Amino acid sequence: MTTRKILVTSALPYANGSIHLGHLVEYIQTDIWVRFQKMQGNEAHYVCADDTHGTPIMLRAEKEGITPEQLIARVWQEHYDDFSEFHVEFDHYGSTNSNETRESAEAIYRTLRDKNLIEVRSIEQYYDPVKNMFLPDRFIKGECPKCGAKDQYGDNCEACGAAYAPTELIAPYSAVSGAKPELRNSDHYFFKLSADSCQQFLRNWTRSGALQTEAANKMQEWLGIEGENKLSDWDISRDAPYFGFEIPDAPGKYFYVWLDAPVGYMGSFKQLCNKLTHPNPPNPPIPPLSGGSQSGRETDTPPLARGGWEGLFDEFWKAGSKTELYHFIGKDILYFHALFWPAMLEHAGFRTPTKLFAHGFLTVNGEKMSKSRGTFITARSYVDHIKNTEYLRYYYAAKLNGSMEDHDHNLDDFVTKVNSDLIGKYINIASRCAGFIAKRFDGKLGNTDTAASAEFQTAFTGGEIARCYENRDFSRALREIMRLADVANQYIAEKKPWELAKQEGKDAELLEVCSTALTLFRDLTRYLKPVLPKLAAQVEAFLNIPPMVWNDKWAALSSGHVINTYQHLATRLDPKLVEAMVAANQESLQPQPQSEQRHAAHQQHTASIEVAQAEKDFEPFISIEDFAKVDLRVAKIVNAEQVEGAAKLLKLTLDIGEGNLRTVFAGIKSAYDPENLKGRLTVMVANLAPRKMKFGLSEGMVLAASGEASGLFILSPDDGAQPGMRIK
Ligand code: 2FM
Ligand code: ZN
Repeated sequence: MTTRKILVTSALPYANGSIHLGHLVEYIQTDIWVRFQKMQGNEAHYVCADDTHGTPIMLRAEKEGITPEQLIARVWQEHYDDFSEFHVEFDHYGSTNSNETRESAEAIYRTLRDKNLIEVRSIEQYYDPVKNMFLPDRFIKGECPKCGAKDQYGDNCEACGAAYAPTELIAPYSAVSGAKPELRNSDHYFFKLSADSCQQFLRNWTRSGALQTEAANKMQEWLGIEGENKLSDWDISRDAPYFGFEIPDAPGKYFYVWLDAPVGYMGSFKQLCNKLTHPNPPNPPIPPLSGGSQSGRETDTPPLARGGWEGLFDEFWKAGSKTELYHFIGKDILYFHALFWPAMLEHAGFRTPTKLFAHGFLTVNGEKMSKSRGTFITARSYVDHIKNTEYLRYYYAAKLNGSMEDHDHNLDDFVTKVNSDLIGKYINIASRCAGFIAKRFDGKLGNTDTAASAEFQTAFTGGEIARCYENRDFSRALREIMRLADVANQYIAEKKPWELAKQEGKDAELLEVCSTALTLFRDLTRYLKPVLPKLAAQVEAFLNIPPMVWNDKWAALSSGHVINTYQHLATRLDPKLVEAMVAANQESLQPQPQSEQRHAAHQQHTASIEVAQAEKDFEPFISIEDFAKVDLRVAKIVNAEQVEGAAKLLKLTLDIGEGNLRTVFAGIKSAYDPENLKGRLTVMVANLAPRKMKFGLSEGMVLAASGEASGLFILSPDDGAQPGMRIK
């Protein structure tokens, strides 16, 4: 088998916020895949970095009274530590604020400019006369032009959902200083994405198999049909003051953060190449530069020494490279990775990504992560409360299937899955058999059960599991592994070693059963190793075997092999720990500025993305069976009241003719006086899983209409309808 050469990246997290459960979906997913590739014997390199530039980071540092460089150095360390806790093992974790990234960004820019793909144009934008800076849309606030809601952002209204330009806001003000912004002109640098060569290239590239089908379809929408040039040029500059890299020959103009962010993949890889080609002494991870970039002056660490590493870098990045390049990303940043990035690479003489692996969003208990519900959980908080981070790796793997679907982290399900599968099925095999080997046989294994082993040899080949890992269908891989765990458990249940241990003259049989079971346990561990690397290392130590790789030929642990004393490998996850974590987050967390930055980054293409989002919410058709699953009932509002401490909710008591009344917390406070609701009939979803909220249990959902126009309207059936009647 030939060794594949693979470079893998995860999206670079912004350097102004903490890593949270949502981020971890991506890093854990990528890490599992890379570990699998390495176990297969492939040459795989996994690089990432902090995404350090942009206005939010500059302002955050200012607010904290430190320099942006100090801020990003601190956050880099926090991120690095968080990733280590979750066993996300980068081959290199860098920073976009590095000489290597700067060098590549400048080189790409110069090539694009030489190819006539950069154009300078004057644009009009809001300017803060107090802070003396142009304002990104997210830093302008005012009244929504559609519904009049106050304090809405410059790009869309959180009250009515309308999207608009910042110039449409009524009574705009700067969110930075509070000043009234002025419209001013300034020269901006554009990458000519609308050029025929870009459009044609992207049309071909997005159909080349580099994208998942869903993503390719989305791209076709964004590109339009043949001949319909829908892409507009991309504004790649920002005016000073800005924390980033100054554009060559353009004083006072900086690369927009999204220009140098993906170049950070290259910058980080360059640093890795240097480490790999100069292994002695081993280089520690390289934190971001402490020298300033804001003024465009040279940073204070010397660029990498020439020699050695360039060959490796070129092998992976030059046009025509035979190596593979994969970017794991969230679907919300597909636009940047499937359009801007490949177009930049192609026209600057580099290779384009082999594949983009986009994943969906994470919800917790069926909803967006939320501070008020305590489900906005940081990596740090998870570690502080639950400690064992492999539980989360296992649970995420059990959910991930390589698609762009969103997935839910249901906290009850998390506990159940960890306890029933990981502990109940897998760990249980070792804990039921290992003790006998130590106590009764001095830690020495015996022969394995020949008859049973013949069957196991066929079952435990791992080919199907490997295919699932390769396709990033980890949920299927784990199902297959758990099926094998069932086979092993069934064997143990039939042989009952605990009974053999009590019977005279059954020592040989006891030894055989336990030795066989431990061989199976070893194999299950090998298959779980990409997901549970720490546990696998503990098992290797306990079984006294060298680190396992994938293609080991099946052979039983040999007779006479001495294993170490069994120590508890993992214990059951106590649901109280999860409850405590949620409670702690409910009290302590501040809103994350991170989402603001991601939002700001998207402002330029808000319109297309918004259309795309709206469309993605619905399948074109569902079956009648799908619809029939929803139990819609006529409900009488017996009582309606305000909920103390809730900004949007009313507490409704509903009668749907089942004897017991239902409590539903409905987000309709802005539209209804509770007094006017009492006695009304409406429509509810009666079979929605009950949801524990801060204010109590919500046992269903009341339907309401809303749209572009302001307002929220609950439904009423015609006269004659009775509480409990089914709506179908
Ligand atoms: O959306 C984000 O969180 C960005 N920081 C991701 C950047 S990925 C790459 F392009 F650098
Ligand atoms: Zn509005």
